Amino acid sequence: MAMTCFMMLAFASCSLPQSTLRPGGPAAGTLAEMGWVAYILFGVTALVMWILLAWTAVRKRGTLAEHEPWDEGGGQLWVLIGGFAIPFVVLGGVFVYQLERMSDFPVHAQGHITPEIEVIGHQWWWEVRYLQGNPSEQFTTANEIHIPVGRPIDILLETRDVIHSFWVPAMHGKVDLIPGQANYIRIQADHAGTFPGQCGEYCGMQHSHMRLLVMAQAPDEYEAWRKHQLQPAAEPQDDEAMRGRELFNDSACALCHTVRGTLAHGLVAPDLTHLASRKMIAANSYENNQANLEAWVTHAQSLKPGAEMPNLTSYDGRDLRFLVKYLMQLK
Ligand code: CUA
Repeated sequence: MAMTCFMMLAFASCSLPQSTLRPGGPAAGTLAEMGWVAYILFGVTALVMWILLAWTAVRKRGTLAEHEPWDEGGGQLWVLIGGFAIPFVVLGGVFVYQLERMSDFPVHAQGHITPEIEVIGHQWWWEVRYLQGNPSEQFTTANEIHIPVGRPIDILLETRDVIHSFWVPAMHGKVDLIPGQANYIRIQADHAGTFPGQCGEYCGMQHSHMRLLVMAQAPDEYEAWRKHQLQPAAEPQDDEAMRGRELFNDSACALCHTVRGTLAHGLVAPDLTHLASRKMIAANSYENNQANLEAWVTHAQSLKPGAEMPNLTSYDGRDLRFLVKYLMQLK
């Protein structure tokens, strides 16, 4: 029974999207290769050990001469071979191999790198700033990082509160976001696709709901996305959405959130200028749709206890519908 469970778990983990064994870029590819080498090597070592153990169990008992005590020279050769020579060769080989592979992960020091993207960790979401070009070409979004396929992207990692860790298994290993320190990571996607990740360092109550998506797109698609993100927020298309915008700007929403092109300039919560273009809400915890937006506005503390987003229960009925209608037009 236990074995069946173990095997089911093993197979299930192979099909999970967040697997270090399914690399989507060169850094993750090297890590996966190193993992396989270690796994196969130690698997073979364990197999040889079990075969030897089985052999000693089934073979006939040896002669007295073969069982000489250690201090009279019995078995000393085996101790030297099995205890020193083989581990020295195997572990030495692994050490040299891994040292050699480390050149695939250059250390990016401040001043030697011009990051294209800055990711700032917050309890419990990711602020994503696109730094390329002059200030009029820069913009901020949240939780979903778009990158063009086939080109290395340098990311500056910072935090505004506690230590977090940036971890997108298909792209790279973990790199921590540490208060007062700038860290860097270089990711590259080999093919288009959506690669999920999450915070890899315990950072409080909602650590496990601090998720993100890396969305790799063909270069022209990425440029189109980028151009669109640079635009100010869409104007409301009807009276209901217009009323929704009024409600947004006259309430607590605008104190924390920014919607570029409107009066909302809050800086402590995710930028909502193009909220409707995002797939998920609440740091990739819930799908971005009308029902979840309504629930999030009024009952964020039930969906994500401890988050900075309060329960705005004063919105109900028509007002809530208008507000969410406005949010859903922020394409
Ligand atoms: Cu952020 Cu764990």
